[in-house]
Amino acid sequence: MDGNGRWAKSRCLSRLKGHEEGAQAARRIVEAVKERNIPYLTLYAFSSENWNRPKDEVEGLFRLLEGFIDKEIDRLKESGVCLHIIGDISKFPSVLIEKVMMSVDKTARNKEIHLSVALNYGGRDEIIRTTRKIISEGLTADSLNQKVFAGYLDTAFMPDPDLLIRTGGEWRISNFLLWQLAYTEIFFTDTLWPDFDEDALERALTWFSSRERRFGMTSEQVRGKEPV
Ligand code: FPP
Repeated sequence: MDGNGRWAKSRCLSRLKGHEEGAQAARRIVEAVKERNIPYLTLYAFSSENWNRPKDEVEGLFRLLEGFIDKEIDRLKESGVCLHIIGDISKFPSVLIEKVMMSVDKTARNKEIHLSVALNYGGRDEIIRTTRKIISEGLTADSLNQKVFAGYLDTAFMPDPDLLIRTGGEWRISNFLLWQLAYTEIFFTDTLWPDFDEDALERALTWFSSRERRFGMTSEQVRGKEPV
């Protein structure tokens, strides 16, 4: 969800105001994705590197998340959203941890859409935490394969993403889902996150539907023809 800061700066507003608008955009996009019967959506809200931001901004983001939960959790529950958290929130303020866990519990039986919010998430950190879990459970080297490894990741409950949308004009993945993105289609857009609306989502989905996904095969194989 990149571009909140620039969106605010161009309007002479504080960065936090940009994040507030970003939270509103997130609310709208969850609805739009759900209406399209897309079963999984993951939002990158706070990376393991975002701790390096000014203290005011980090605390402001925590307050915003708390406020978002207070305001939205009942509506999310009613609309069938099952909330998941990926990342390591153990270093977050205890009030926020409690609210987050309560929200996860409250929505656990919902099935309409699995909304994952990445909090203190970093792909490298996830791989290290996963490896630690595997070692601590005493798995042998021979018993480890890709499926077993993926089953220990934060994302074990979801399939690998089909589409990654990177807003804000940056062409990088910034430590997001490093394992899971192996065959994901990546859509880069200059649109700043607070401006990312239903039309922008539709453009990304249209682009995605034009992609030929080969997963290492040839075009002929994918189209069900014999190779020439
Ligand atoms: C990146 O934009 C955005 C973030 C680090 C925070 C994202 C958080 C939210 C949208 C709010 C809460 C989320 C939810 C799910 C309610 P940036 O600040 O790096 O923008 P810039 O590159 O323009 O400075």
